[in-house]
Amino acid sequence: MITLNTPIDMHLHLREGKMLRDVIPYTYNQFAAAVVMPNLVPPVDNIDRLLSYKDEILQNSKNFTPLMNLFMREYTKEELEVLKDEIFAIKLYPAGITTNSEEGVKSIENVYPVLEIMQELDIPLSVHGETNGFVLDREREFAVVYEKLACDFPNLKIIMEHISTYNLVELLDKYDNLYATITLHHLLLTLDDLIGGSLNPHNFCKPVVKTPKDRDALQKIVKSGHKKVMFGSDSAPHSIKNKLKGAAGLFSAPVILPALAEFFEGDVETFQKFISDNARENFDLNIPEREVVLVEEEYIAPQLVGEVKPMFAGRRFTYSVKNF
Ligand code: NCD
Ligand code: ZN
Repeated sequence: MITLNTPIDMHLHLREGKMLRDVIPYTYNQFAAAVVMPNLVPPVDNIDRLLSYKDEILQNSKNFTPLMNLFMREYTKEELEVLKDEIFAIKLYPAGITTNSEEGVKSIENVYPVLEIMQELDIPLSVHGETNGFVLDREREFAVVYEKLACDFPNLKIIMEHISTYNLVELLDKYDNLYATITLHHLLLTLDDLIGGSLNPHNFCKPVVKTPKDRDALQKIVKSGHKKVMFGSDSAPHSIKNKLKGAAGLFSAPVILPALAEFFEGDVETFQKFISDNARENFDLNIPEREVVLVEEEYIAPQLVGEVKPMFAGRRFTYSVKNF
């Protein structure tokens, strides 16, 4: 048996309406809290939209704390003073870089005044760090942007979301104010799982899964219990129909804790840090405590949730989440 205290998913896509209602039980049954991404259409970038989205999440969940992220645009100080108490962070998407990011930032300089205010008000910055270069180089190339942001805003906490390359792992110890989330799929999959055999569009996401060397660096830093590394699933549901049209995103929520229990091979202390303690300490998160228990009973990942095919559909796991 594994008992986890207050698991938190630091990067989650819940969508809205029917899709949200279909997918959200897989999160609130495994996690006490999650950071909810704002890339809806239109984006979550004002107080009304933020509060109504939060309300929709609360109406459809139990014992669950949504930590809301706001979509980056050119906010004024007055706006952020109002929004501050309702949000965890502001998410910066370079324009057009991933699903629903068309309204994103065209040039980082445009939002320098916002970053200045965020630093002053102590609002963390969350970043989708990819350039629009060659697909396998996009995240590595973005490292210079992270370095510049880390230097220009030394008191701004910057979260490098869903890191997938060994060079971003190396950046973590270079700047005090850089943090990282790591997903289940970047920890376990490589390009072989996407294009090594027959093409598997269900393993396609942004940033794309990378080389064994990158995956091994991610596994190593997670197994070390590094304090600045936090679990963020980036679970991103799309209907099978849209996946077959090329939509980016893996729906990993149904398999997260069973898969991580196998990954940590009995090292519950490090599992606990990755899934909760590091995030709570790095960001002073004040979330009602809740225990989530994994028992040694077979769990078979569902084949279908609503119109979505989950990661590892049909796979058997040795641990299952109790009372789920
Ligand atoms: C995410 C989505 O579908 O919203 N897709 C993805 O491939 N990860 C957006 C994102 O986080 O990039
Ligand atoms: Zn995401």
